Amino acid sequence: EMMKELAGLNEMEMKIQKRFQLQQVVVVPGNSDESSWVKKELGRACSSSIKKHLVGKNIIAVTGGTTMAAVAEMLTPEISQKSENLFVPARGGIGNDVENQANTICAKMADQTNSQHRVFHIPDQVSQQGYKAFINEPSIREVLQLISSANIVIHGIGEAMAMAKRRNTSQSECDKLIQNKAVAEAFGYYFNENGEVVHKLSTIGFQLEDLMKTKDVFAVAGGFSKGKAIQAYLKRAPNSTILITDEAAAKGILKEI
Ligand code: G3H
Repeated sequence: EMMKELAGLNEMEMKIQKRFQLQQVVVVPGNSDESSWVKKELGRACSSSIKKHLVGKNIIAVTGGTTMAAVAEMLTPEISQKSENLFVPARGGIGNDVENQANTICAKMADQTNSQHRVFHIPDQVSQQGYKAFINEPSIREVLQLISSANIVIHGIGEAMAMAKRRNTSQSECDKLIQNKAVAEAFGYYFNENGEVVHKLSTIGFQLEDLMKTKDVFAVAGGFSKGKAIQAYLKRAPNSTILITDEAAAKGILKEI
């Protein structure tokens, strides 16, 4: 019975990997919308996959969110046995939710793995004027440089409207997202069901161009509710992507639209 179940998951992994031309896909059993232990399993699966990819010196950029927090929770010092790692937040913070901000998660990941980290003390969204002032700060310049030279990225994927709500997005911006049929969000970019960017937050830090030149990109997201969002994002994801997801999301990812 268990082998059969396992075989089913393996088949889903292969199908997703082929359909979206990804580096690797891992599907854990269950639905992380319903049980918190499934989210922990996503974290565990990501941790063991990362371990296999870390050699030499690495700069690892990470985003925020509850799934990333689960990844941080599951990282162990073993990861740094054969490598020297520096964790950097991909971007600034999101609202007031300190616990799930990239900065906090980054510090936790470094702590769990006896590694170094940098903080990025800027708001998640800045004005044009603010941007110019920020990038002239030497400490911010240093972190920005590290972010754009990251060889590994670990990021979450969210449902567009859920993320807009979490960010206290204005009504007019929400209307724009609805009008442009945004379904997915990752590192401040909003995508429609074809994986096209329909909106982008004016954020300092990690950009889509950076993602395209990153050697290993770990995308971690699960739950039935995210199936469509993950499917949309994967149409745009680079071939270097290693997707860590769960069974419930995998079914949605494989659904024809
Ligand atoms: O960008 C997407 C978010 O990081 C996803 O957040 O893991 O809390 O659903 P979550």
